Order: sequence, then C-alpha cells, then structure tokens
Amino acid sequence: NYTYEELNDYFENTLGINSIPNPIKYSLFADSDNYRIIQTASSNGSKPNKEAADQLKKDVGVAVSIYNTNIDDDNQMYSKTIYQNFNMVVAENEMKFDATEPSRNNFNYYNGDRLIKFAQRHNMKVRGHALCWHSQCPQWVSKDGYSNDKGWTKTELLAILKNHIFNVVKHFKGNICEWDVVNEVLDDSQSESGVNSGGYKMRNSVWYNVIGLEFLDSAFVWAHQADPDMDLYINDYSCDYANQTKAKAMYNLVKNLVKRKVPITGVGLQCHLGAGPGWVDSLNMVKNMKQYEELGLKCIITELDLGTSDTSERGLNIQADNYRTITNIFLNAKNSPHAIIWGVTDDKSWRSNERPLLFDANFNPKPAYFGVCNALKIKASKLGDANNDGSVNVNDITTIATYILNGTAYPFNFNNADANQDGIINVNDITSTASFILDNHLSKVGLGGGMFAVNE
Ligand code: G3I
Repeated sequence: NYTYEELNDYFENTLGINSIPNPIKYSLFADSDNYRIIQTASSNGSKPNKEAADQLKKDVGVAVSIYNTNIDDDNQMYSKTIYQNFNMVVAENEMKFDATEPSRNNFNYYNGDRLIKFAQRHNMKVRGHALCWHSQCPQWVSKDGYSNDKGWTKTELLAILKNHIFNVVKHFKGNICEWDVVNEVLDDSQSESGVNSGGYKMRNSVWYNVIGLEFLDSAFVWAHQADPDMDLYINDYSCDYANQTKAKAMYNLVKNLVKRKVPITGVGLQCHLGAGPGWVDSLNMVKNMKQYEELGLKCIITELDLGTSDTSERGLNIQADNYRTITNIFLNAKNSPHAIIWGVTDDKSWRSNERPLLFDANFNPKPAYFGVCNALKIKASKLGDANNDGSVNVNDITTIATYILNGTAYPFNFNNADANQDGIINVNDITSTASFILDNHLSKVGLGGGMFAVNE
C-alpha cells in the first residue's frame, strides 16, 4: 500500500501520468509485466448494498444453506448478513428434486417454506432452483441421475417429471418469481465444429436418455402451465463467455427453443469462476448477454463465486476487482435483472478452500464485498452527474469546471459534483468524474469497468 503522495510521485516520475483521483485510497500491485491499481476496500463503506440495488431496480442475491443454520432466527449473524445486504435469495439445496420429492409423490416443502417466510419478513425476492437436474435427483428416480436402473418407460418418466413440476411450482406459486426449470443439461464436451454449425450435445442424463429432447420442452411448458406468471430459466456452467464452446452450444440450444416457441424467459450463467489479475473476460461476458438480448431473452448471473489460490491481501484485492467488474457488467446489461452469489461465508462454500465469497467465516466483509458495493454505489449515486440530467458525461466536467471558475453553474448539484465526496469542489472532482466516465465506457464496450489498467 502506498500513500496518495507516494503513488502520485510514482505515477508522474515512473509512469509519466499526471495524477490519480484523491482521496480515494488506492493500492498498487506490480506484476511482472503490468501494473494494476485496485481501489482498496474501505471498512467505512456503508453496509447496505441493498439500497443501491433497490434504487437501480436490480437484485443482488445470495444462495442460502438452510439445513445448517436457523433461518427462522433474525438475530443470528447468518440471517442478518443476508437481509442487510441482499434483496434476493435462492435455496442452495432445499428446493431441488431430492429435497422436495424424497419419495414418489411425497412432497416436502418444510425448508423451502422457511426460506419464503424469511424472504417475506425482509422484503426479498425468491428464485427457485431447480426443477429438473441429473444431480440431486432422488434415488427412487435414478441411482445416479444417469442410468435408468429403475427401468422407466418414456411415458412413465414424463409422468414423473410432470407431476413433480406441477406440484412444486403450484406450491410456491405467488411466492417465487422465477425457476431454473432445467439445470446443466448440456454435455461438458462440445465439438467446436458441431457448435459452429449450430449444433449442441446434450448431457446423457436419465431424463435425456429415456425421454429425449422432449423432456426439455415439456418441462418448460408444464412450468408455464402451472404458473403462467413465472419467469423460466435454463441454467448452466462454463457458458459464461461467448467464446466458450459450451456457451456456443447453449446459444444454439436456446435459439432453437425460442424458434419452437418454448416458454423460456432467459439463460442463467452460473459463473463459478477463478479470481486473478485480468481474469474476467468482460468482452465475452458482455457479448454473451447481448446475444440473448437480441433473442428477446434475459441473461442473469445465477451462482457467482470466484475462487482464488492467492489469499494474501493482494490476492483478495484482485478478487475484489474481479467481483467489481462482473457487478458492473450486470448493472450495465439491460436484460440482466439480477446476479446471485453462491453462498454467504467462505467456510460454508462448496469451494471453501478457495475462499470464493464476499464474507469470511466470521461474517467480516472481505475486499470482494466492497468490490460489489462500490460498483453498486457509484452506479446508484450518479456521482459526477453535476448538471443533474441523469447521466454522467463530458457535460458534467464542463459544469464542474464552470463552477470552479465562476462559482456558479446552472443546473448544478453540489453533492453529485463533489464526485470524490470530500466536501469541496475542485479539480479532483473533474478527475473523479472523468474516471467514472471511463469506467462506464470500458464496461459498456466490454473491457471491464471499475478498474484502472496501466500498461495492460
Ligand atoms: O444433506 C446432508 C446433510 O444431512 C449432512 O449433514 C451434510 C454433511 O456434509 O451433507 C448434506 O448434503 C450435502 C449438501 O450439499 C448440503 O450441504 C451433499 O452431500 C452435497 O452433495 C451437497 O452439495 C451441493 C451440490 O450442489 C450438490 O450437487 C452444494 O451444497 C451446492 O452448493 C451445489 O450447488 C450446485 C448448484 O446446485 C448447481 N450448479 C453447481 C453448484 C455447485 O456444485
């Protein structure tokens, strides 16, 4: 960590750059061949993400592990952390097929209902995960989600799926805004030539093996019939960036669903990714969301976590920068109403050894938390919108400059013009406003945002 003066000196004398925004505190990390400046998480950042998200009409959600906590107790740290910081929840395991229909036609909604009550007490939305999946498929359907060891016929298995979807969707009707109807239906290996010619390979799950592609269309149609107001998603991993082979397969599959008029609302990108310097491929994530917008669909982030092997301060700040970049991408995408983080504290994550989440085991917010927070706060506060016209652009720099020179400028908003929030309006606010414009621009063209990159 460097002081502002040291950094400025380094900038001017070593890198030949005139100045950096003050007084936001920055850390500088020198990699072997590039230099990256990352805004240091400050522990005086205001807690609720939630207000900023509400204001932006976006949802920042979290996966809740209901089985190992008492979600009914609003005083527990686990509960508090969730309702103070997020405006959407999803059950990490408790609304899956094995949990909701543990034996044939015997439904169990106990934990799902507890989550609904929790969300209602705290004015949060609930998303449903997942109606049809090969994993966490109950033993009575298939011993491993792949083999048809029970010898079902196509008609029998369709009836099982239909019964499950109708019962579960109807039970939660009115209390859940959307469902992952099908989860991870694509095979892990997709051939490049296949996807380039519009193809895709399905996973050999018990559903696909016994029923064929009809299981997919039927699942969406039944979910829609059970609750016509419900938003319906297809969800998968390794489909996060437009240039991934599996993402191309997903696009081909979804394009066909739309063509067949299957009632689908959008695509969920799980985003189980790794954290590292420049590791978020913004260009391809933006491109991915955009291609679904062009199909008239939403594209949301459903299970975000960013594992890291570098748990030094530097590593955790890079992780924060990655979180901030992804938050900016989702905030700037018109067809992306929400992003959900896959768990609360690192120790309870399915990737606990990679410390992938926003809070440590003691519920302390990590730099990653402030990465998400900063992106939300800057976007929501419209800092830099000095002329109050609703957007931050070069006209605001003129407004601030006019104020500095003449003492007046009309229309003028002091709070927003004080872009670095230090209580005075001076040239540093012009620098801060310029950096917001740059961040926003970089994020829109798919080169990140919320990040200064030098020599990169
Ligand atoms: O229910 C038992 C509980 O009774 C027991 O005390 C406990 C002891 O470890 O295990 C519990 O079950 C585990 C369950 O998580 C709850 O922690 C299962 O063994 C374990 O397999 C299960 O793992 C879940 C995994 O899905 C299963 O595939 C993870 O928590 C969950 O985070 C993960 O989530 C998936 C998404 O649904 C789909 N996308 C990938 C994502 C990560 O794998």
